[in-house]
Amino acid sequence: MTISVLNQLLRGRYSCRAFRPDPVPKTEIEQLLISAGRAPSWCNAQPWKVVVATGDETDRFRRALQQEATNRPPAPDMPFPTSYSGVYQDRRRACGWALYEAVGVKKGDREASQRQMMENFALFGAPHCAILSSPVELGSYGAMDCGGFVTAFSLAAQSLGLACIPQAAVASYGPFLHRYFDISDDRLILCAISFGYPDTDHPANGFRTDRVPLGQFVDWRG
Ligand SMILES: Cc1cc2nc3c(=O)[nH]c(=O)nc-3n(C[C@H](O)[C@H](O)[C@H](O)COP(=O)(O)O)c2cc1C
Repeated sequence: MTISVLNQLLRGRYSCRAFRPDPVPKTEIEQLLISAGRAPSWCNAQPWKVVVATGDETDRFRRALQQEATNRPPAPDMPFPTSYSGVYQDRRRACGWALYEAVGVKKGDREASQRQMMENFALFGAPHCAILSSPVELGSYGAMDCGGFVTAFSLAAQSLGLACIPQAAVASYGPFLHRYFDISDDRLILCAISFGYPDTDHPANGFRTDRVPLGQFVDWRG
């Protein structure tokens, strides 16, 4: 394999925010998960576990989650960032505006931006959703290992002609997710990954984020 194959996957993938309803065959979902499970982890602990919703169960979950998000305040297991400042704030804004521009949300239209945000809880129409958790006792390093799992999952999805989106927004509702999927309290729910076939004509999939050049994140010594 050459780096150009890897770069093709890395550049081709994007966070998909509109899916076709067609289900993904179970063998392909298994392939996705096997590939994601090749991610490295400290001591090879492989801290990830996923609950994978398919078929009618995804729709039941979607409805329950939408209801929860409408009626209850967020309560994530893992605290959300306390703030984004400086360049992080700039980058956060840039990707938010790119999405709003793509879907036609005007600056200052809070109702429309809230409506777009609520699409998170409709799982962007995805036919499948994986809820990712890590043991509480492994702390930040367990979460870090699971980040690698998410990346490997997204590259595997891209290679199979699928698309996905990691969603911290879904993890906002920790107590609900523990209850709904019977996930024990000794595990931290980190995020969801909604996945399926992309609706490539949908405006929400009509923009791409960029990346800063090397000079902005590398500090060479020697
Ligand atoms: C851990 C994690 C959580 C994320 N949570 C959300 C989310 O809740 N909602 C959303 O629309 N995008 C979410 N994203 C997608 C990011 O916004 C996206 O990865 C970023 O803007 C870069 O764009 P790209 O994935 O299209 O390259 C998340 C990404 C990661 C890695």
